[in-house]
Amino acid sequence: MNILITGGAGFIGSALIRWLLTNTKHKIINIDKLTYAGNLDSIPNNIINENYHFERVDIVDQKALSRIFSYYQPDLVFHLAAESHVDKSLTNPDAFIETNINGTYSMLLTSYKYWKSVRSSNKSFLFHHVSTDEVFGDLGSTNEMFTEDSKYDPSSPYSASKASSDHLVSAWGRSFDLPYVMTNCSNNYGPYQFPEKLIPHMIINATKGEKLPIYGNGTQIRDWLYVEDHVEALYKVATSAKAFSHYNIGGWNEMKNIDVVNMICSELDLLIPDKPKHISSFKELIDFVDDRPGHDKRYAIDATKINNDIGWKPRENFESGIKKTVNWYLKSSDWVERVISGEYKLKRQGILSE
Ligand SMILES: NC(=O)c1ccc[n+]([C@@H]2O[C@H](COP(=O)([O-])OP(=O)(O)OC[C@H]3O[C@@H](n4cnc5c(N)ncnc54)[C@H](O)[C@@H]3O)[C@@H](O)[C@H]2O)c1
Repeated sequence: MNILITGGAGFIGSALIRWLLTNTKHKIINIDKLTYAGNLDSIPNNIINENYHFERVDIVDQKALSRIFSYYQPDLVFHLAAESHVDKSLTNPDAFIETNINGTYSMLLTSYKYWKSVRSSNKSFLFHHVSTDEVFGDLGSTNEMFTEDSKYDPSSPYSASKASSDHLVSAWGRSFDLPYVMTNCSNNYGPYQFPEKLIPHMIINATKGEKLPIYGNGTQIRDWLYVEDHVEALYKVATSAKAFSHYNIGGWNEMKNIDVVNMICSELDLLIPDKPKHISSFKELIDFVDDRPGHDKRYAIDATKINNDIGWKPRENFESGIKKTVNWYLKSSDWVERVISGEYKLKRQGILSE
């Protein structure tokens, strides 16, 4: 197949490309604008792979997308490009509206035009929209879990923009028959995640002996999925699910934020005997800071449907996945230094500028 991936220089997109180039013979076309979150270093060695092609393009640009679709003739599109950091969406929502909503709209318009032009020749086409469980909002203190039928109820500008993109994709399916599948996944973690996100942020700050800021009292609960499990699920859904179906993807790993940070600190305590002078355990760096606005209390995914229909379940549990992740960050300080640009200095985000 010719597989077009948007956002392939980001965290999940690059994991998907690494996985596809290692495990399949498909031709991969990576479309990415290379924002602060995109880095081609996340696809090591594959730059010279003859099955890999890169186009630096903004997905809002319909003209550029049309050229790329007619040139590469994709059978499958994985749409991942997005602004993805909730805190940044509170500070600067504009880019979230532009990329997540208008960018998805451009992708749908281009996909539809392209699909109409090749439909009569029986060429296959599928648009796989990659989304988040955050569109379903907050489970609060209930024992419920999100299913594929959960009501949309987003809390942040990020989740509202992703919810909008989900609705646009469903509408192109229902109104125009554009063949699509949609997956809504829980929090991912693993190698090559931009250091703004909770897990890499904590690992990197700890190794520098800096404070580990935790929002509120750290009791917010998230489900965590190792990124390589996610990309395998994406490929399985794209290649075996019925068109127009929706799947939730989760790791069956519900954890409080404070427990995640404590586990990272325990792992670092084992791996780094020579600690910064002022501490005897990395846990001493934990620092509770004011909660962020609209912070959802709990997300949890019921991933029964994907297990029953597609036969997918995660390989890693949180303990095994976090060990791999901490080890990777300790060995990859070069990558970390390269991706932290001058523009982004891991400053506190999440406060709307006037
Ligand atoms: N990270 C998670 O835990 C998680 C969980 C569920 C779903 N998702 C979804 O998965 C997708 C990928 O998430 P991620 O964590 O890899 O994000 P990321 O921020 O690491 O990567 C996003 C990529 O998109 C590119 N991009 C941004 N705007 C663009 C534009 N206008 N045109 C072209 N490229 C653009 C960036 O350069 C970057 O390479 C997103 O759609 C996100 O909503 C993420």
